[in-house]
Amino acid sequence: MNTDRLSKTIAAALNAQMTKEAQASQIYLSYAAWAESQGFGGVANFLFRHAQEERNHMMKILEYILKRGAKVQVTAIPAPPENPTSIKICFEKIFEHEVDNTNAVYKLVKMSLTEEDWATWNFMQWFVKEQVEEETLAMNLLDKLKITDSEKLNGNALYVLDRDLETTPDEVTSAQEVTADNP
Ligand code: FEO
Repeated sequence: MNTDRLSKTIAAALNAQMTKEAQASQIYLSYAAWAESQGFGGVANFLFRHAQEERNHMMKILEYILKRGAKVQVTAIPAPPENPTSIKICFEKIFEHEVDNTNAVYKLVKMSLTEEDWATWNFMQWFVKEQVEEETLAMNLLDKLKITDSEKLNGNALYVLDRDLETTPDEVTSAQEVTADNP
């Protein structure tokens, strides 16, 4: 008896997204190692923590594919891109990676809608919300640089930024959670 509840197209797309999340983890890992080697321990700490978060995303998809009775296909992960050459470029690239991932998530949502696979559509809503948070987190990094005037980043400003990121929480408040009393 066939107990596979995912279409071949959806299963392939979910497996591809699982690999994409694994790749995101490797990118954060690679950038974290670069930041550490440049003396930015706080930035590195933030990125190492985020590498773990991406791995958690990968695991969620793996578990979903299994729970729907389909086949998980663990494949090779493309190598991370070259190291950034500055903190500014590092943060810009992180934002670009997150937008790219959001687009991949949206494609899966659209596909599940077309196929009327409501279980997958529902599952993917978690990722839609998560990507809003991930993009906000990346935008916040860029905002912090703006405040310190990125074109003339001096040692002191970078030192404070680095120290700040050591303790920056991994999560941001989503718009849905905001109230007038607690903006
Ligand atoms: Fe799993 Fe940063 O998206």
